[in-house]
Amino acid sequence: MRIDVLTLFPEMFQAVLGQSMLRLAQEKGLVSYHLWNIRDYTLDKHKKVDDRPYGGGPGMVMTPEPVFRAIEGVERDGSEPARKVLLTPQGERFTQSTAEALSRENRLMLVCGHYEGFDERIRQGFDFLEVSIGDYILSGGEVPAMVVIDAVVRLIPGVLGDQDSPEFESFKDGLLEYPQYTKPREFRGLKVPDVLVSGHHENIQQWREEQARERTRAKRPDLFKKAPGPKTVSQ
Ligand SMILES: C[S@@+](CC[C@H](N)C(=O)[O-])C[C@H]1O[C@@H](n2cnc3c(N)ncnc32)[C@H](O)[C@@H]1O
Repeated sequence: MRIDVLTLFPEMFQAVLGQSMLRLAQEKGLVSYHLWNIRDYTLDKHKKVDDRPYGGGPGMVMTPEPVFRAIEGVERDGSEPARKVLLTPQGERFTQSTAEALSRENRLMLVCGHYEGFDERIRQGFDFLEVSIGDYILSGGEVPAMVVIDAVVRLIPGVLGDQDSPEFESFKDGLLEYPQYTKPREFRGLKVPDVLVSGHHENIQQWREEQARERTRAKRPDLFKKAPGPKTVSQ
């Protein structure tokens, strides 16, 4: 997958893309990141990319020209069209199923806003998937873009090793993940449930499913209402 990021602050991405799973994915040749500075596409001699809002009001709005030119220029840099994602608090909520859908694309282009956001004509000018990472306002689309990249890239086949398989993670079946334990078997009086060390695969499976359901019911009743029924039947 090729990922293009259009931003006024490309340096913000270096640390996140250069570490851990996101770096390994690039090293394995499964993804390539391309950072573009929207400011490089302005025709203004002072490199201005924002202006005051018509009608008055606080703050500055990103002007259409550099963003249009950046999107069109970057698109031409690759051999195939990109699925364009506009980071905006007014977009649809980013979920695991959005991440799964985006992980099947060959090319993504993430467009990050700043200041008071985008001139409306930017939104109108392209076929964007408009994505919000939650109901709060951040100062720019850079952190949301990093969230999207991280969630998407780890789903690309081959990025995670078998032992890190995303198959059993929270949200996969509409449920939160069951509780996990590792060594030691007892820590400060807190014990690992016997069933997990029983070696009885079916019982472990059933316990995990029950725990996932119970935990989702308690912590996320909104998810629980929509979750499918149990797969294993209690005896
Ligand atoms: C300060 S925000 C602009 C908010 C805008 N004035 C509004 O009320 O909808 C600046 C930029 O940060 C990004 N942003 C802020 N919060 C976001 C969120 N929850 N999800 C995705 N992007 C967000 C967007 O790219 C946005 O254009």
